[in-house]
Amino acid sequence: MSITVACSDEAPSTDAPLPTTAASTDESEPTAAGALPYRDPALAIHLRVEDLLERMTLGEKIGQMTLVEKNSVAPSDIARLGLGGLLSGGGGSPRDNSPTGWATMVEEFQTAALESRLGIPLLYGVDAVHGHSNVVGAVIFPHNVGLGAADNPELMERIGRVTAAEMVATNIHWNFAPAVSVPRDIRWGRTYEGFAEDTDRVTRLATAYLRGLQGDSLSDRTSVLATPKHFVGDGGTSWGTSTTSDYRIDQGVTDIDETELRTVHLPPYAAAVDAGARSVMVSYSSWGGEKMHAQSYLLTDVLKDELGFTGFVVSDWEAIDQIDDDYGTSVVRSINAGVDMNMVPRAYHDFIDELTRAVEVGEVSIDRIDDAVRRILRVKFELGLFENPYGEPERIVDVGSDSHRLLAREAVAQSQVLLRNQRSILPLDPNIEALYVAGAAADDIGMQSGGWTISWQGGLGEVTDGMTILDGVRNAVHANTSVLFDRNGRFGDLAPGTEMVCLAVVGEFPYAEGFGDVAEPRLPDSHLALVEHMRGQCDDLIVVVLSGRPVLISDHVEDWDAVVAAWLPGSEGDGVADVLFGTEPFTGTLPYTWPRDAAQLPEPGDDALFPYGFGLTGNG
Ligand code: GLC
Repeated sequence: MSITVACSDEAPSTDAPLPTTAASTDESEPTAAGALPYRDPALAIHLRVEDLLERMTLGEKIGQMTLVEKNSVAPSDIARLGLGGLLSGGGGSPRDNSPTGWATMVEEFQTAALESRLGIPLLYGVDAVHGHSNVVGAVIFPHNVGLGAADNPELMERIGRVTAAEMVATNIHWNFAPAVSVPRDIRWGRTYEGFAEDTDRVTRLATAYLRGLQGDSLSDRTSVLATPKHFVGDGGTSWGTSTTSDYRIDQGVTDIDETELRTVHLPPYAAAVDAGARSVMVSYSSWGGEKMHAQSYLLTDVLKDELGFTGFVVSDWEAIDQIDDDYGTSVVRSINAGVDMNMVPRAYHDFIDELTRAVEVGEVSIDRIDDAVRRILRVKFELGLFENPYGEPERIVDVGSDSHRLLAREAVAQSQVLLRNQRSILPLDPNIEALYVAGAAADDIGMQSGGWTISWQGGLGEVTDGMTILDGVRNAVHANTSVLFDRNGRFGDLAPGTEMVCLAVVGEFPYAEGFGDVAEPRLPDSHLALVEHMRGQCDDLIVVVLSGRPVLISDHVEDWDAVVAAWLPGSEGDGVADVLFGTEPFTGTLPYTWPRDAAQLPEPGDDALFPYGFGLTGNG
């Protein structure tokens, strides 16, 4: 069917009867009486796309390519500009940060979008990277580092399903997840967003999670759009190559050849495309002397042509701005390279103006614009957004439900890695007479959840609902057991000869992205001092480490009787107690090699403290 392209801003009529276009199966069948073809769900998606595209002005097309942060958008612009998407950046919550508050906020944005001339629904995106993790009351799953340790694709699929259910309950259909990074240097602040240093482990877990998010069909009411990220090689950057603020490795240079890029970092994307990925987010990093957001070889030739990706490519937050000092040049180079939707959180008028100018002077072809818009519209039709632009707010009761929390608890238990277990002191007897628990981290939901939790960088204390590790311990022991807790490990004068079995919970303070870049990943000195203090009084000392990556403990670990890598378990800390007391077995294995010292980084090699894949079972 020949399509004339509307380049001018002269809006073709939306009520003019269009030539009869074919029904979903037979080109000759008329469409449903009265429905504009693109509004007819019986019509094949590619025909709905072409019909809608033909009706769009250049301004409306560029509007669809624009993704704006919800605090920065003038509500009247949503319809006036026909914006394609809105997002909540990390922590971009409504004033009422509750599931209902979120559902109401997104409903209002979507209603505004549907008032646009063509009524094209919005895509609303969030980083539900470990559960719907901006929302107070949502279940916070273990971060990917822990799920990598669990290494259970079936579990990942169930986590995806539950995460999608909690998202659609708040009217949200787009998840900027999974990160399919393959982190190769644990000094990177985003190591915990990756599943593992091993490509195959990343691939099997990420595709399972994507299948869970997207369900059997993207148009199912409980399915959401997944976004494998950040394309490509974000986990392969070199220390000291970042040029973003005072980051050291995040957003740096992936200084490897194409063979290594294709062997280590590309396979998760190929698998994700095969598993049905319909949006992919680009990496801030650089490769081959070029910012990824301007890499037409990788974005177009490889991702779209070679891997056959027919969804849309979305930029990262203001990432195209890093391409060139001249913003107009950045816009032209990123869109021509293959970026279809630009996450331009604030300066969206500039983006729209610059891209409009570029098309008018021929620096960006209308064919490229139409290709980008086709991809975006295609996914919106596949999601069923034109028929069901809202989610399932009646399922608000499911957000943070007991059944969802049980799944998270199961995931926490499977993610725990037993690194040391002298005299087989683990699992503990729940009938134990007394257990001495120390460390602020034992009673801190924020600490056990890490970054990307309620706020971008995460925070300490009771940031959301859930069970601390201490709560879990108290629930696990029998009624006659005394659980004594002191954050400083001070338990007063005990009767001489009192046997002390102690649990010290220590960890990294929350961080996200480049703020977590560190030359030597270590535990806070105050935490190490606490453990040393406990060593001096305890007969059996069990240390639980909360961290987004392996941390340097070689100087201390021989003094600790048992050591559990708990990672960032999220809101259900009772999953840690489940393995400490043997309700569940230790099955986790290290997703990252655990270095002996910083000099071994980035690749610890055979002399690591604990090798990749290591994990004791606790069965003696
Ligand atoms: C951030 C992250 C990306 C996230 C996006 C939206 O900078 O790099 O992973 O999806 O912005 O919050």
